[in-house]
Amino acid sequence: MDPEQLRTDFSRFMMTYRFGIAQLMTRVNTLEDEFTHINLYNPIEHVTSRLKSPESIIRKAQRIDCPLTIDDVRENILDIAGVRITCSFISDTYRIADMITGQPDIEVREVEDYIANPKPNGYKSLHLIVEVPVYLSDRVQRVPIELQIRTIAMDFWASLEHKIYYKFNRAVPAELLAELTEAAETAHRLDIKMERLNDEFAKLKAQPGTADDAEPAIPLLGALDLRPQD
Ligand code: GTP
Ligand code: MG
Repeated sequence: MDPEQLRTDFSRFMMTYRFGIAQLMTRVNTLEDEFTHINLYNPIEHVTSRLKSPESIIRKAQRIDCPLTIDDVRENILDIAGVRITCSFISDTYRIADMITGQPDIEVREVEDYIANPKPNGYKSLHLIVEVPVYLSDRVQRVPIELQIRTIAMDFWASLEHKIYYKFNRAVPAELLAELTEAAETAHRLDIKMERLNDEFAKLKAQPGTADDAEPAIPLLGALDLRPQD
């Protein structure tokens, strides 16, 4: 094939993923704005997106034995576009997932719930492959996006684990691995405690006579004890 033609086709191919990300980001930002204006609190802490680099697409294609044609790559590599939503609490991750997947023109291709079923190293996140429609001049293109939804604690853990993993070139010493897995459990306990604390606080706030900006009651402070329970 003419290399010039290939370059044009590839750059159009990548462009659809950029449009897909913009499309999904708009929807997430809309939810955020709506929460801020109407709801009691905004469950979305922050949102990031990334487009896989051509080098990394080629590396992945080689790793999974995917022929290097645009059609094969489109069909087999579903994380060229990625969006990550970080939420306050575990229940928020599922709420946000339901809100997005409930939009009638968004299709869910895959769900991997690593919150309910963490990876052996302790990794937790809700992973979805969603397809969003992108309206081009002559057609509608459905673009797959890997959507990762996690809590702040899960995100904190995953970013450190990622750094360590690459620092040791994927061969992390066993002792460090064990400590990381333990840290994932600590992060999970924090998630559970924070959510319980928030629920208690919401209940107190709803009681008549409680000022809207009241500080949480003193006895609740004990709920933040993160030591393993025996
Ligand atoms: P990939 O070929 O990497 O996409 O494998 P997969 O299809 O089995 O994907 P999986 O759902 O396991 O993970 C996809 C993405 O989730 C990764 O690119 C990371 O962003 C994130 N992820 C998965 N596992 C881990 C982990 O153990 N640690 C960290 N830090 N991130 C992870
Ligand atoms: Mg994947």
